Amino acid sequence: MNPGLLLAFDDEQAQAEALATALQIDLALVERHRFPDGESRLRLPPQLPAQVLLLRGLHRPNHKLVELLIALPAARALGARQILLVSPYLAYMRQDMAFTPGEAVSQRHIAALLGSLVDGLITVDPHLHRIRSLDEVMPGKRGVALSAAPLLGAWVAQQVPGALLLGPDEEALQWVAEAGRCHGLDFAVCRKQRLGDHEVRVALPALSLAGRAVVLMDDVASTGRTLVEATRAALAAGAASVDVAVTHALFVGDALAALQAAGVRQVWSSDAVPHATAVVPVAGLIAGAVRAF
Ligand code: R5P
Repeated sequence: MNPGLLLAFDDEQAQAEALATALQIDLALVERHRFPDGESRLRLPPQLPAQVLLLRGLHRPNHKLVELLIALPAARALGARQILLVSPYLAYMRQDMAFTPGEAVSQRHIAALLGSLVDGLITVDPHLHRIRSLDEVMPGKRGVALSAAPLLGAWVAQQVPGALLLGPDEEALQWVAEAGRCHGLDFAVCRKQRLGDHEVRVALPALSLAGRAVVLMDDVASTGRTLVEATRAALAAGAASVDVAVTHALFVGDALAALQAAGVRQVWSSDAVPHATAVVPVAGLIAGAVRAF
């Protein structure tokens, strides 16, 4: 795709500028006003080119989703005929089955809803565990799932030569394997049982961690409890150090403090979600996918 404009929201200006620079295209911002009752008023450029790239990360998902659901048809009304959505963090991807009877499979519904409004979607490390590709949940539309794992792996290999990449659960195998193979690092995964939002149990793999520099790698950290339990287990098993590298740094509430208290040394993330721990930029990765779309 050869977009005539990058359209982004005014609360993601830094990310938008990085992507516009990588693509060497113009950037325009959607201005937002929040009414006292919580509704949003959006103002877009009054005339849009036929091909528009729209950037919207979906951390803090609910109000950002509503704004996106308004902005997409508004962009069409203002002249956009083809819209490629870049959502570096795509929310709701972890609810990928009905874990209890009657539970909505949000992954399917949110992806289908977005797919009905855009011509394509690019994201980074969506939580694809029970499906292989985004196309399965976006009927008739193309979804591109990029991975920050090789970039994070390069960072880790530089910071902690000889690190053991440890995924805190079996779903993380795809990320530790990719990063490990790209950069010649050992990798393995734990087994996890989630008992509640803030309660998880983690069992280590059957290999010696004694004296190893362990780097926990995952797609997303939210409450941080998954990483906390993996850290405690690794240190109890004799790991020399534990660092953390994640694609999506949500780190809600006391997550970072809990990681520090558990003994984590350093926390690194990609900037797919803007966060103080971000060390690995994804603008170049996304720009390559836009050009190839
Ligand atoms: C789920 O399997 C994900 O890959 C993460 O492990 C999970 O979302 C982390 O959540 P939390 O930080 O709340 O433990």
